[in-house]
Amino acid sequence: MTETHPAHMPKIIAHRGACGSAPENTLVSIARAADLGAQAVEFDATVSLDGHALVQHDFNVDRCSDGHGPVVLKTLDEIATLDAGGWFAPEFKGERIPLLTDALALVSERGMALNLELKPTLGWEEPTVRAIAQALKAAWPKDGRILVSSMSTLALDVFHDLMPDVALGLITYAIPEHWNERLKRHHCLSLHCYHAFVTEALAKAIHATGHRLHVYTVNDETQAQALFAMGVDAIFTDHPERMLPLVQN
Ligand code: G3P
Ligand code: MG
Repeated sequence: MTETHPAHMPKIIAHRGACGSAPENTLVSIARAADLGAQAVEFDATVSLDGHALVQHDFNVDRCSDGHGPVVLKTLDEIATLDAGGWFAPEFKGERIPLLTDALALVSERGMALNLELKPTLGWEEPTVRAIAQALKAAWPKDGRILVSSMSTLALDVFHDLMPDVALGLITYAIPEHWNERLKRHHCLSLHCYHAFVTEALAKAIHATGHRLHVYTVNDETQAQALFAMGVDAIFTDHPERMLPLVQN
């Protein structure tokens, strides 16, 4: 894949924005990634009760805001009252759970590539993906660099039906036994796995089938260098400022 391919990800992908130094999955975290020099950013998207696509990792809002309960039981108006920054550090108090459209506009404005992770609450795959596709159609430029990924193969399949031209990635923890078949079945360009499962042989085999290998979450420079030496195409990191000096994107 050439570096100008719309789904080509630079080697360093800032994870949930730059979530090592800003509250994850907020606009300030995405802006921080760009400020630190990241050329690519990853964040997670889900949906509110009333069908708005949001940037949010967990099924519940408890861990990363001052609210409680499942995100899919809250309307956008309720979500908008939550503080999504104070839990991380007092200076971020007042940050909000972003609308996906606002996050997309920010990524585009800052000229970064985007790995958008579909993170449906289990059981809400279809409405989640419909809302995300609608946000992408409204707020992501046609020439934007994007790769959409998910752990949910149902979400990937629904998304592919709605936006067949957008490249996909399958997120796993371990390496599936029949990874090539699974990648093909779900129209995926890349496999995204936990770093402990990577070997040089795996990276070679993945490349030999025309796929790419993206690895999460890598915050140690020595480990990152070892993974790149094995042939990994890109890593997700909470600390892009540590990893960017290691590579030329
Ligand atoms: O996409 C890589 C990584 O973000 C997957 O795990 O749980 O951080 O969304 P998680
Ligand atoms: Mg993610």
